[in-house]
Amino acid sequence: MKYKVPFVNPQKQYKDHKKEFLKTVDDVFSSGDLILRSDLDVFERKIAKLVGTKYAVGVNSGTDALSLSMEAAGIKAGDEVITVSHTFMASISAIYHQGAKAVLIDVGEDFNMNPDLIEKAITSKTVAIEPVHLNGRMCDMAQIMAIAKKYKLMVIEDAAQALGAKFKTKEGKWKMAGSFGLAGCFSMYPFKILGAFGDAGIVTTNDREIARKARLLRYNGEDRKKRKFYSHGYTALLDNVQAGLLNVKLKYFPDWLKRRREIAELYKKGLENIKEVKLPHFPDPRFFDVYQNYALRARSRDKLAAYLNKKGVETIISWPIPNYKQPVMQPNNIFLPETEKICQEVISLPMFPELTNQQIGYVINFIKKFYA
Ligand SMILES: Cc1ncc(COP(=O)(O)O)c(C=O)c1O
Repeated sequence: MKYKVPFVNPQKQYKDHKKEFLKTVDDVFSSGDLILRSDLDVFERKIAKLVGTKYAVGVNSGTDALSLSMEAAGIKAGDEVITVSHTFMASISAIYHQGAKAVLIDVGEDFNMNPDLIEKAITSKTVAIEPVHLNGRMCDMAQIMAIAKKYKLMVIEDAAQALGAKFKTKEGKWKMAGSFGLAGCFSMYPFKILGAFGDAGIVTTNDREIARKARLLRYNGEDRKKRKFYSHGYTALLDNVQAGLLNVKLKYFPDWLKRRREIAELYKKGLENIKEVKLPHFPDPRFFDVYQNYALRARSRDKLAAYLNKKGVETIISWPIPNYKQPVMQPNNIFLPETEKICQEVISLPMFPELTNQQIGYVINFIKKFYA
């Protein structure tokens, strides 16, 4: 179906910068620089600088970024990692891939880990906390880092949806998502804030050993210079051509973030008087949100989604079923009230930098009509 207002529009971004993308592809393909070449190197350096970490290691996906970070951190069978249920399943799967157990806790109003619930979830087996910065908003890293320090736990940030998001520390310094924990894990899946033309991801870290191990694991465990295998690894590299294309996109990234925040403000202005919806704006000056998604809570959510769909507006529901109710997570006796409520109410509106003011007005208009 062709939507009047699609949820995302990668073809528009391609059209806008087609020449640069095609030149990059031609350069890479003509030179045969397919694996571990300079475009990847440049991309890693640029991301490390942007996030403010010493190292960045390009990998095949956000899922790989999480799994490789956890493996590099030594998370193993018998360990427990505290995370949220309200996230993409990959955040949880990465823990199970290590043979460890994911201990799922509830989220707060802003869809993110409720830090007040962490201490109760800590056991003698807990080794790490995995906060998920959902929808381009960071978790309360002041509280999470303080708890991690108190109990000597590692923090592996799932920053898949949060490149560019910031949190202000007690000292009044802005710090980027992916720079707080032992590792930050980003996804460059095509529809992410910075999306490749296929799967891509990156690990950020200040820890030399984590970076070294992630580099080994992503390329079969081998140090190719020494011809020595140090671990049983994977084929999980970020392709050089994708890195090259991401380098092109990085030039526009600051403008795209600005536009996402502008769009969020326009949605806010248009929708804030509708009492049946709760918008994702939270008055805490410590947070700088980048709106990977504009996820709101709406009464009669399913009817609203069907109505908007009929009017040509594409929306997404992330997620209608709590992860702990999914078949792969059975059996368990988990019940998380805020997560349950969110799964019934959440709906994400179209959000991408190329969205026009006219399209935004169109969406607002029909949401108003629906509740009139
Ligand atoms: C919160 C979160 N974690 C992890 C991932 C996994 O990233 P990828 O799809 O690149 O494997 C995603 C991607 O959708 C995500 O949104």
